[in-house]
Amino acid sequence: MAPDYERAAEMLEGARKVVVFTGAGMSKDSGIDTFRGPGGIWERFSAQDLATYEGFIRDPAKVWMWNEARRQQVAGLTPHAGYVSLAEMEGLFPQVVTVTQNIDGLHARSGASQVVELHGNIWKVRCDAEDNEPWLDERTELPEYPMHCDNCGGLLRPHIVWFGEPLDRKDILDANLAVEDCDVILVIGTSAIVYPAAGFPLLAKQRGAKVIEINIEPTPVTEYADLSLFGTAEEVLPALVVELKRRKGDGD
Ligand code: APR
Repeated sequence: MAPDYERAAEMLEGARKVVVFTGAGMSKDSGIDTFRGPGGIWERFSAQDLATYEGFIRDPAKVWMWNEARRQQVAGLTPHAGYVSLAEMEGLFPQVVTVTQNIDGLHARSGASQVVELHGNIWKVRCDAEDNEPWLDERTELPEYPMHCDNCGGLLRPHIVWFGEPLDRKDILDANLAVEDCDVILVIGTSAIVYPAAGFPLLAKQRGAKVIEINIEPTPVTEYADLSLFGTAEEVLPALVVELKRRKGDGD
């Protein structure tokens, strides 16, 4: 069935606060593989080795090399048209907050102004020994594997939430604040099975928000979504913004 853009635009009409909740499928059309499904990252690489603290301690050099390769990939790509459309939506509603599970930083790079990165950011590092605030390190050629702290000599780690690790408390708070009184939540490109992040769309629904899902296939969100638009983020989001602008009378 073709995506019902008119119905989606109707649901969004008059919304004061919109939450954009994204997962790996949002970046698929820019060339970054998703984690699950055919050809997914966790089919080809070991999550145990590369995305757990135990794996990091076992072989920190391996984890840094893998993350360096991912940094190089992200640095070399361009956010697709769907990202640009999301940034444009900020001009159509009083408040748009992006809550993402992605670590690639593409939302901010394409102009999103308020972004909560629930699973961290591949461009940030922190000292594992000192447990201090993360800082930005945008190098794509790392000086050593593994990286060490200039201050204490301890291991530096990517500022990424690995399996079994808690989310940052401030991020949880910010995501809750965004979700609890939003009018509409757009749930884009996530399998919605990794908790606690996957709980935010349902929380929004329980608080009275309309849930619009954008995905290439059904997910657990589909069961309670008010509307599912099946298609890729790259095709669905620009078409949705065209419809929103048309209704506002400033379509191009
Ligand atoms: N457009 C929209 N959705 C897509 C597209 C696309 N072009 N391609 C794939 N998808 C959908 C898939 O159908 C799937 O539902 O994106 C989703 C990707 O799911 P996952 O790979 O499980 O990614 P995500 O939900 O972000 O995973 C959550 O798991 O491994 C951890 O920490 C990692 O943040 C990640 C978390």
